Amino acid sequence: MPRYGPRPTPTHVLAHLSDPHLIAGEDLLAGRIDTRQQLQKALDRVEASGERIDALVVSGDVTDRGDVAAYELFRDMVAPVVERLGCALVVTGGNHDERRPMARVLHGIDTDAPQDQATDVRGLRIIAMDSAVPGYHHGGFSDDQFDWLTEELAHPASHGTILVVHHAPIVYRSPVMQLLDFDGVERLRQVVEDSDVRAVLSGHLHVTSFGTLGRVPVLVAGGVSYVDDVGAPRELLLGVDGPQSWNLVEVHVDQVVATVVPVEQHPTWPALSEPVRAYLQSVPEAERREAFSRKRSLTPENAPEKK
Ligand SMILES: [Fe+2]
Ligand SMILES: [Fe+2]
Repeated sequence: MPRYGPRPTPTHVLAHLSDPHLIAGEDLLAGRIDTRQQLQKALDRVEASGERIDALVVSGDVTDRGDVAAYELFRDMVAPVVERLGCALVVTGGNHDERRPMARVLHGIDTDAPQDQATDVRGLRIIAMDSAVPGYHHGGFSDDQFDWLTEELAHPASHGTILVVHHAPIVYRSPVMQLLDFDGVERLRQVVEDSDVRAVLSGHLHVTSFGTLGRVPVLVAGGVSYVDDVGAPRELLLGVDGPQSWNLVEVHVDQVVATVVPVEQHPTWPALSEPVRAYLQSVPEAERREAFSRKRSLTPENAPEKK
């Protein structure tokens, strides 16, 4: 891809999807949502982006009911995409997941233990931690999980760490969702503080949201299955079949940038025409800002219509 601007390309690119709530078979989520179709559309958009994806991150609520068939469906849908992209796959559990069937299908082991793990992607460490509290819908880590995370973070990675946790450690807008939030935010903040964690990627809220854990940004992906209606009063919890999305997370040497990508492919038009693209490529890099950014003086021919 041609570079028009002077900024460096990111060192790492992550596709952050959350809350597929996959259901195997014919059932629709809430009688409306074809979860398989939604995940497929999201994966298609990841591939169509043309980005060099380093990791496909799925931050929990992989399935809606935690059954083996749904994890098998997830595995079968995601594996070929990961293979084609040549990227890492990082998955963590959410409150709708069940640890044993998830571990059995995705990790090939028979256990109820959380499958927390650190994945090294060319010096960027991605730590996925299962924040589901067995038997509940709110989130948190056990003492063992906090100890493991503390130990892991004791040794910094060359490009730092991205922490993936289903329950976003931020203040939720929805009062009822606050009953299902991460229990132990202050403890997590203390563990993350002074570590090399550069961002926390979360889901669970079914809205695109951004906050901070201490000084660390928390980037919440809005969900690929369904979304909560943020335009409604906060006391209500209304599901919407749209606008589902995922986050394209670009990791630079000095910052982390998240961009929201709609799952639905809406009609497009070329905002940058082919002649303009060709022209820009012909201009020496040092002169491109002047050539592209300078406002043209208005003439009767190019003046906008008066309203
Ligand atoms: Fe969810
Ligand atoms: Fe959730």
